[in-house]
Amino acid sequence: MTSKLRSGNDLRQAFSEAFGSAPDILVRAPGRVNLIGEHTDYNDGFVLPVAIDREVRMAARARNDRLVRLVALDFGQRTGFALDKIERDEAAPWSNYLRGVAFYLQAAGFALRGLDAVIQGNVPIGAGLSSSAALEMAAALTFQLASGLELDRLRLALIGRQAENEFVGLRSGIMDQFISALGKRDHALLIDCRSLEHRLVPLPQGVRILVADSGVRRGLVTSAYNQRRAECEEGVRRLAEYLPGIRALRDVSLADLEAHQQALPEPVRRRCQHIVYENQRVLDAVAALERGDVAMMGRLMDASHASLRDLYEVSGPELDTLVDIARSTPGCLGARLTGAGFGGCTVNLVEEAAVTSVAAAIEREYPARTGRTPHLYICSAVDGATPINE
Ligand code: GLA
Repeated sequence: MTSKLRSGNDLRQAFSEAFGSAPDILVRAPGRVNLIGEHTDYNDGFVLPVAIDREVRMAARARNDRLVRLVALDFGQRTGFALDKIERDEAAPWSNYLRGVAFYLQAAGFALRGLDAVIQGNVPIGAGLSSSAALEMAAALTFQLASGLELDRLRLALIGRQAENEFVGLRSGIMDQFISALGKRDHALLIDCRSLEHRLVPLPQGVRILVADSGVRRGLVTSAYNQRRAECEEGVRRLAEYLPGIRALRDVSLADLEAHQQALPEPVRRRCQHIVYENQRVLDAVAALERGDVAMMGRLMDASHASLRDLYEVSGPELDTLVDIARSTPGCLGARLTGAGFGGCTVNLVEEAAVTSVAAAIEREYPARTGRTPHLYICSAVDGATPINE
């Protein structure tokens, strides 16, 4: 869903054309960019994402039966299912996120009504900006409103992750759904992915978040991602022989890791090293932002990228080139890949006065060095999923 975002009225109109009546539910849920804390969420660690002004919208109306009928405007595709028999649909893979959400809402004991819905959005797909979490949260909020369910935003996020893990098959952590459900305008969100405690961190004045899409979409991301996760689990199993009682890499201190790294085979050692140091970088980044030290924040982002490239091995030549161009341009404070990696986007922390020149440098040099066209987004931090009143 990379097209232009439609207005509320446009979406109502499209619903009426598709289903012959007016919708009475209109919701939005944002994508996200993660400032720092990559691959830490499924290790019970810390993350610092921002909900961005790229979103998925749904217009819907409850039905009096158990049918769900869906139209994805950006794909020109229609599909449907019965709430009593929810199965994957490989011909309309986007619908699996909605099917998964409905499935796990019901599995949690919520009584759902059928509904008709049209879906539209402008979160680039497969770019590491969480188009899938945005779709899950828009779907969860739509089902909640259509069926009058008592559910808080955190519960919506947990249902969304379950859909992603068990229905779609990516063993992701909680970050993307959490920030899409609970983000706040002008803030990043520090999330403790074990306790699910969270704290708003105001974004500093005078800097902007510039997202650069490499245009690279790698196949087999799901298996590479799940493999990283398995490597972290192996690290925990091996370290637990020396550090009884640890449950996740979150429980391993920098000193413990240094003391016991010989117990870890490669590449497990490198993976563990990334996670343990990245968790510390998130906490350091929050402290830096809270005292207005944007230069330190930038250095931590740089260190995070180097670690993702060399230790976690989820970068690639295009992402490294984007980071390199940005970091060679005055006014860019820090740059790193964001999201799962293997392609997708970088996030750049840029002095406000330098946004145009950093963007121009990327637009000029990236095609020359890679033969690809970059897409640039200057992002604002927005609220998590809400009904739309427009
Ligand atoms: C994907 C997953 C998240 C997180 C990131 C990497 O976006 O959905 O849960 O693991 O990758 O930080």
